[in-house]
This record gives sequence, structure tokens and C-alpha cells, in this order.
Amino acid sequence: QKIGVVIVAAGSGSRFGDPLPKQYHQLGGKSLLAHCVDCFVGHTSADLIQIVYNPVHQDWYEDAMSDVACKADIPMPVNGGETRQQSVLNGLRALAGKSPDVVLIHDAARPGISDAVISRVLHALKTHAGAIPTLPVADTIKQTNENNIILRTISRDSLHRAQTPQGFIFKTILDAHSQFEGQEQTDDASLLEQLGLDVVCVEGATANDKITLRDDFGRAQNWIAPTEM
Ligand code: CTP
Ligand code: MG
Repeated sequence: QKIGVVIVAAGSGSRFGDPLPKQYHQLGGKSLLAHCVDCFVGHTSADLIQIVYNPVHQDWYEDAMSDVACKADIPMPVNGGETRQQSVLNGLRALAGKSPDVVLIHDAARPGISDAVISRVLHALKTHAGAIPTLPVADTIKQTNENNIILRTISRDSLHRAQTPQGFIFKTILDAHSQFEGQEQTDDASLLEQLGLDVVCVEGATANDKITLRDDFGRAQNWIAPTEM
């Protein structure tokens, strides 16, 4: 079974709010992007890695990749698009010629990805069209009206926080992305949901939470280099 990997790194990190996009920031001695690449290269089953970037970031990309332990099998990056969804589709199209059986789609902004999470997704893919790592929702969730008045409390029992890598049968997700090109979904599973296909949730990990804001970066620093008490 051939396993493709698409790592999307073409975003500008507007919520992070730094001229240097978050995926190119250093965490514990290497860039977030390099953390991701090293983990997928190190996972014995993940062979075909395709990075998607913004060519405007070329110099930052090269700096970031110089931290990668084993670059031998990493092809040239392909250009992303205006949205994450478009960037993923570009990455999938780049992999199509290599005919992977399944694909893992991962955010470069999740440097805490681990072998264990990758393995859980791959295992679930043996019996499902799609599988994504998730974590339970810890807070009580309120739905409000436009005046911020609470309408109701949503039971969190059936709620999950979606992470990546999101894994799919390659042909299924390429077809779905081609069909729904131009939408602005923030993850890939939502495309299969629209088609009524089964996507199963497997256990994610706190360290695999996405870096979105500066605060998230501070928390990730604790994870990568625990401070001495
Ligand atoms: N991404 C991408 N192409 C885009 C937008 C996002 O490849 N046009 C990637 C980002 O680089 C990131 C992942 O998708 O690795 C998740 O997106 P997000 O956290 O939203 O990152 P940004 O879009 O860069 O950040 P923001 O939304 O705050 O601008
Ligand atoms: Mg974004």
C-alpha cells in the first residue's frame, strides 16, 4: 500500500500576526515545517511526501527545510492557492501521478504530530474511507444569537475538535476536492461528509493542536522543551 502525504504550508498566518509565517518559525531548534516533515519521513509507512507552499516564501522555505534531517525523498514543493482547500487540491494533483492508495493531509502549523497519531489514522483507514484525529471538547459550549444572548447549551458528548493528519482513500478525496473546488472548508473531512461518506474519528493528541495564535506558540514551546521547575 502506497501512502502519500500532503503537508500544506502556503498560509500567511494572519491570526498569528508576524511577517514570518508561523510554519517557518523555529521551535526547539527547527522550524514547524521541519518538525512535520521529519515526523512523516521517520514514520516507516509514509513514503510520498508533497509539500505545498507559497513561492513568495521561497527563501524562508529553504531556510526551514535546511533543518530537515533527511531531505533525500522530498520533491520540489508545489504552489498553494488562496485558500487551504485550494492548497490541498494542488498537493493532491501533484501526487496523482505517483498513484498513492491512501493520503494523509497535514497542516504545517501542527509541529507536535507523532508516530502514534499517524498510525492510528492509518489503521482506521483499513476499514473507512476517511479517518481524522480528534480530541474531546473540554469547555461547556454555548450557542448565542446576534446579541450574544445564549440560546442554548450544546451537549459536548458528541462534539470533537478536528486535527490533522486527515487520512483518506486517495481517489475518494481527490474526486471530492475536484468536485468541491472553490469552497472554503477549513478541513478535508467536511468534503466527504457532504458526500455522505463515513469518516471516523480516532484519538488525537494535545501536542498536535494547531499553532494559530502567539499564545499557542508559547504553549508549544513548553511541549518541545519542558521548562525546569
Ligand atoms: N494553508 C495553506 N494555504 C492557504 C491557507 C492555509 O496551505 N491558502 C495552510 C497553512 O499554512 C497551515 C494550514 O493550512 O499549515 C492551516 O491553516 P491556518 O492555521 O488557517 O493557517 P494560515 O491560513 O496561515 O493562518 P490564518 O488563517 O491565521 O491566516
Ligand atoms: Mg487560514
